[in-house]
Amino acid sequence: MSDKEVVVNGLSEDQAWQELKFPELLNSDAVREIHATIEKEWDFLQRSACQTAAGRALWKHAIHDPLADVLAGETYLRNLHEKIKKDILNNARETSGVILAVRTLWFDSRLEDALNSIDGRQAQVVLLGAGMDTRAYRLSCLKDSDVFEVDFPQVLDVKTTILQAAKDSSNDCQHIMSKAKSLTRVAADIRESDWLEKLEIAGYLPQKNTVWILEGILYYLTQSHAMQVLRILANKCALTHTVLLADFMNKPSTTLSNSAFQFYSDWPDQLLPSIGFNHVKLSQIGDPDAHFGLLNDPLNLFNKLRSLPRSLQTNPDDGTPCCRLYLVEASGSPDQNASNNGPITQT
Ligand SMILES: C[S@@+](CC[C@H](N)C(=O)[O-])C[C@H]1O[C@@H](n2cnc3c(N)ncnc32)[C@H](O)[C@@H]1O
Repeated sequence: MSDKEVVVNGLSEDQAWQELKFPELLNSDAVREIHATIEKEWDFLQRSACQTAAGRALWKHAIHDPLADVLAGETYLRNLHEKIKKDILNNARETSGVILAVRTLWFDSRLEDALNSIDGRQAQVVLLGAGMDTRAYRLSCLKDSDVFEVDFPQVLDVKTTILQAAKDSSNDCQHIMSKAKSLTRVAADIRESDWLEKLEIAGYLPQKNTVWILEGILYYLTQSHAMQVLRILANKCALTHTVLLADFMNKPSTTLSNSAFQFYSDWPDQLLPSIGFNHVKLSQIGDPDAHFGLLNDPLNLFNKLRSLPRSLQTNPDDGTPCCRLYLVEASGSPDQNASNNGPITQT
C-alpha cells in the first residue's frame, strides 16, 4: 500500500473504487425514463442535485447512503467514477469527490450536535436546496425533528417518484422509511420573496427551534439573493434558537473560468455576526473536525491551503488561486440578542 493510501472501513482506496455496480432499480424502464428526462430537461442548477448524490454513492465506504445511486442516475455515477479511476491511475493526492464526502460527514456530525445541544427539545430542520439529500432517511438523530426539504418542484417531484419506486421494488424497506418525526417537501425558489410563506403554509413554525441546512446552495445564488436568504435566517435569531449550517466558497473559487458560481465570502465568520448571528465557528476541509480520515496526505491541496493565511488569494509557491470551501456553523437565540454581549467568533 502506498504512503498516500487510506483505509476507510477496512477498504483501501483502490479497493473501494474497483467496480461500478448499479442497483437493479436503475435498469427499470420507469427509472431510466426519469433519468433520461433529467438529462434532457433539467438545467445545470437542478442537475447539480444528481451530481452531489453521485458523490455520496461512490464514497459509500465513508458515507452510508443506500439511496444515493438510484437518485444520482447512471450518467453521473459513470462520470464521477471515470474521474476517480483517473485520479487513482495518476496517483493524485486528492481523489475526486473527497470534498463532497468530507462536507456530507461534517454536516451530518454538526447537525447531530446541534440537535443534541437543543437539549432534547423538539426542533425543526429545514434544508434549503435539499436536492437528493436523504438525511431524513439516514439519520436517526432526526427522530424528534420535523424536517422540511425545499427545492424546485421538478427536483422534489422526481425525488418523490424515485423513492416511491425504490419502496415498491424492495422487500426490505427499512432504508426507504423516513427516520424523522415528519418529512415535508416544499416546492419553492429561494430567490423569490414567497419561499418563507410557502414553508409556513407547509407547517414550519417560526417560533420553534430550527436548524437550517444550506449545503451546496449559497454559491449558486447571486450576491444579493444569497444575502437576502442569510438575512432572513439571521433575523430568526431574535425569535428562537437558530442554527445555520452552511458551506461558503471564497472569491478565488468562484472566479475560475467557466465557473457557474456567484456568491462568495472570504470571511463568513465576520459576515454572519454582522447580520445577527452570535456564535460562529468556521472550519476548512482537512481541519480536525472536517477530516474524517479521508485526507491523510500532508501534501494534499487542502492541507497546503490550511497552512496559508486565509487573506492570501494566490499561493505564493506556485501562483495557483487559493480556492477554499469553508464549512460554517452559526447560531443565535433571543437570550443572546437581549444580553447584547456582541458576537463570539471562533476560527
Ligand atoms: C449542489 S445541489 C445540493 C443538494 C443538496 N443540498 C446536497 O447537498 O445533496 C444544489 C441544489 O439546490 C437547488 N437550488 C438551486 N437554486 C435554488 C433555488 N433558487 N431555490 C431552490 N432550490 C435551489 C438545486 O435544485 C439543487 O437541488
